[in-house]
Amino acid sequence: ADPEPLWVEVNAWYLRHGRDLPWRTPTASAWEVLVSEIMLQQTPVARVEPVWREWLERWPTPAHLAAVSPGDVVRAWGRLGYPRRALRLREAAVAITAEHGGEVPRTEAELLTLPGIGVYTAAAVVCFAHGERTVVIDTNVRRVLARAVGGVALPAPSLDRADRERATAQVPADRADAAVWNVAVMELGALVCTARAPRCGDCPIEHRCAWVAAGRPVYEGPAHRG
Ligand code: ADE
Repeated sequence: ADPEPLWVEVNAWYLRHGRDLPWRTPTASAWEVLVSEIMLQQTPVARVEPVWREWLERWPTPAHLAAVSPGDVVRAWGRLGYPRRALRLREAAVAITAEHGGEVPRTEAELLTLPGIGVYTAAAVVCFAHGERTVVIDTNVRRVLARAVGGVALPAPSLDRADRERATAQVPADRADAAVWNVAVMELGALVCTARAPRCGDCPIEHRCAWVAAGRPVYEGPAHRG
């Protein structure tokens, strides 16, 4: 008998154990999701949360942010680090205001034309804000699927075809299921299937994990960041 698809178990786990983060509420706007994704690129959730709240209170729409000076934006970014992200986000707000009527674009192709928005962020925004069925691949997703499906300790150092194929094959057909899956598999990587010392005993797919079945082999490939 075919086993259940991975997403069935991972989504059920997420609904019980996923963190209730403010940008994950069903009412979060595309702008709120976009700001969260830019902040989360290089900064942990705990440090992002208060700054994200302050930002969106001050600049609740792209037009608000587009109107302020680069200096103010960098100052408000403060302790998040990598302040170039703040400048790019402001430039994206300017472009959204000037070229998209102030509305965050609804397609990945349009999002990709904005400053500072790459493949990951474009997919995350259309999935998490608009509920579109797409493939969202970050480091956590790559690691979970490299282990559970590929049976290897860690994925290649940068996104490759194997990552993309494994991720694409797992996305459920239904868009609502897909939207949960994309955040659920990311969360499993953040909380359980961590890079060092994964908590396999807490994992909803340990029983079918190819890496566990292979005896949790250690990583022997090229050097990794993160
Ligand atoms: N939820 C959605 N995207 C996220 C991210 N990049 N990090 C943590 N939680 C998220």
